[in-house]
Amino acid sequence: MKYISLFTGIGGFESAKHDPILMCEKDKHCQEFLSRKYTDIEIIDDVNTLASKKNKLPKVDVVAGGWPCQDLSVAGKQEGFNGKQSILFYKLLEIAIKSRSDTIVAENVPNLLNIEQGRVFVDVLNELKNAGFCHIAWRILNTREFNIPQQRRRLFIVASKDKQIAKNLFNKVNVKISSPKNKTKVSGFYQSAGTHSICYSENFVPTIKVSNGPAIHYKNIMRKLTAKESLKLQGFKINDFKDIADSHIYKMTGNAVTKKVGNFIFNCLEKLKLNLDMNPLQRGSNFFSSDINKILYKPENGFFSEDVIYEVILPKKELCSNLADFIELKSNSFMSDTALLGMLRRAKKAKKPINRDLFNSILLTVESNSLINEIGEDGIRDFKHGKFSENPNGELFEEILF
Ligand SMILES: C[S@@+](CC[C@H](N)C(=O)[O-])C[C@H]1O[C@@H](n2cnc3c(N)ncnc32)[C@H](O)[C@@H]1O
Repeated sequence: MKYISLFTGIGGFESAKHDPILMCEKDKHCQEFLSRKYTDIEIIDDVNTLASKKNKLPKVDVVAGGWPCQDLSVAGKQEGFNGKQSILFYKLLEIAIKSRSDTIVAENVPNLLNIEQGRVFVDVLNELKNAGFCHIAWRILNTREFNIPQQRRRLFIVASKDKQIAKNLFNKVNVKISSPKNKTKVSGFYQSAGTHSICYSENFVPTIKVSNGPAIHYKNIMRKLTAKESLKLQGFKINDFKDIADSHIYKMTGNAVTKKVGNFIFNCLEKLKLNLDMNPLQRGSNFFSSDINKILYKPENGFFSEDVIYEVILPKKELCSNLADFIELKSNSFMSDTALLGMLRRAKKAKKPINRDLFNSILLTVESNSLINEIGEDGIRDFKHGKFSENPNGELFEEILF
């Protein structure tokens, strides 16, 4: 399969089986990493340069890329297609047209389905359809479905001139979910959270982000996830990242497609004849109309072909909870008192709960006068007695976040 990789990052989509003929990535540190790992592949440093190339691009089967998502994430400003970064979607499309590609594989945050009441997603589908990629499948995959204990939900879109190729996105995830070998309870949480929940998650970590990634809690220890653990939780080989500073690794892993997930998507493109359980939902012409009220419902897993939008019914996802097997229990990168107190101060101000086990561990760790100075006796009482409860939509919020 010949393909062009755009917004390559550190190559979450790339595998030994499928190497692109061309990569495109702007970040210097990612470029350095890619040129070391993929020695024979040309790297172009900007999609704008690639799209404006006078010479014809080589004909390929696939153009793939997760275009930058800052404008679309719940954590960002939600500017939709008015945001500078998201507009890079059009460059992806332009390059796919110029390279006479048959298929586009795109990745983004699940919030793409919701932003501006779905308008942005409809625009994306419309542009793909009008450019001739008229069979379009989309699916949300969670890294935990691949036996990696990171809650990372991402939206994948396969738009193709070939109906079967698009449909193949719904291949079965054939990964065995193992029960943890190490029985230590390890939970992940966001130390930086304040206005929203800290997303305390038992035996898995919340989404690894570009900055302020998750911390972990076990046996009265609270500490940052190490760069090596971030790589593992994204499915990358630690040895490939020797000599790269931790700060760069955190950013790279926060941006990346989990390797196993990216590889699954590419393998899907090759499988043939998949029979699907699909419910027709509405006429495509209604879905694509400019009247927002006509868009009835945007399924998480959907398919558009020949003017019909379908909901695709997939088996229930099995998610892993085996974090203890992925972390170095002996690491000593403990969180400082200042960081712990800062987290409590923000949670108190925002009236967000702190998990009781976590709070008890903080009580044992932080000097009590500092704790009283920071959140007062009332704050200690409130957290101890679980005064603040999780927003009933908390989990949903976490799921669509980032
Ligand atoms: C969401 S990340 C994709 C990461 C990638 N899928 C991976 O697995 O590592 C978006 C990437 O696009 C890159 N990028 C942003 N603007 C770009 C541009 N104009 N040209 C090329 N790459 C760009 C960023 O540096 C970032 O690495």
